[in-house]
Amino acid sequence: MTFESKIRPIEWAGDHVKLIDQTALPYEYTTVNIKTWQEMAVAIKDMIVRGAPAIGISGAFGVALGAREFLNSKNLDEFLQKLEMMAIYLKATRPTAVNLMWAVDKQVDYAKSLNLSMPEIVEKLEQNAVKMLNEDIEINKKIGEHGAKIVPKGGTILTHCNAGALATAGYGTALGVARSAYAKDPTIRVFADETRPRQQGARLTAWELVNDGIPTTLITDGMCGYFMKKGEIDVVVVGGDRVALNGDTANKIGTYTVALAAKAHNIPFYVAVPHSTIDASIETGDQIPIEERDAREVTHINGKLVCPEEVNIINPAFDVTPGEYITGIITETGIYKPSELKQAINAIPVS
Ligand code: MRU
Repeated sequence: MTFESKIRPIEWAGDHVKLIDQTALPYEYTTVNIKTWQEMAVAIKDMIVRGAPAIGISGAFGVALGAREFLNSKNLDEFLQKLEMMAIYLKATRPTAVNLMWAVDKQVDYAKSLNLSMPEIVEKLEQNAVKMLNEDIEINKKIGEHGAKIVPKGGTILTHCNAGALATAGYGTALGVARSAYAKDPTIRVFADETRPRQQGARLTAWELVNDGIPTTLITDGMCGYFMKKGEIDVVVVGGDRVALNGDTANKIGTYTVALAAKAHNIPFYVAVPHSTIDASIETGDQIPIEERDAREVTHINGKLVCPEEVNIINPAFDVTPGEYITGIITETGIYKPSELKQAINAIPVS
């Protein structure tokens, strides 16, 4: 059973993409029309669209938009070369979430595999991006179904950042687990970490769960240990941006600290991700590139400077939680212990 969300952060409008502007939420609900691949690259970099699966799907649409622009190429070779160049730019917009690389590469490889004319390839790329969009919701619902089993009756889930409808095509990974658990048991509740510096927990997770009527309590990041010690948290469920074969998981900065606190209090800690977030080319999390973002995200809140201008700033957007702190990785095909992940992934045919 699922608890539907009506939020659709990415929509295909036939010749352009409509994105919910996630930088404006929750103050304003607006959409942005993306007509070129360059506009898509900026939307991903500036986090108008964000969350690993959502930027993957957006990247796939970016390739389709670019392909239409390249129809003036002299021949198919030039067309495919331009696609490859564009893919390099798109993938560089956000380096940590592997879904972006996965989706963009999948589109370029698909274009190269088709023995068709350029206009026909453009059409196929658009259809393929729409397919990824629709499939993502189904994948999330499967993650939700598996994950709902680990939420105790009347339990409280703690989550970090936003791994919800806004971060995917429209259901969520970690929040997909919350939605599916809530559909079965409306006495569960969610604690959402605020998630500094960009406040995805406060601005996005709280917004979408409150909209859906799922009981939600917002806490600041530093409060998680306090509530764990008080026995208020039964299980932690977070999303992921890239999972290595040993289960090490990159997710929003602060996730590692939550995992350490959960370990200290014997609270199960789960990561909910689609297979496209698992990077089968890396053995450990040491190989995951960590995006460094603008210092202004730390120094300013709502455009206002909140610290001395001269202070030094470091702003990594993600951290890596070692597999040994993770109880299980919830995917569309089941829940795996980090130590079982490699074998499980190798046993599943690549789609
Ligand atoms: O910087 P963001 O907002 O893109 O970071 C998002 C996260 O870290 C999410 O937890 C992750 O992408 C999983 S989304 C299903």
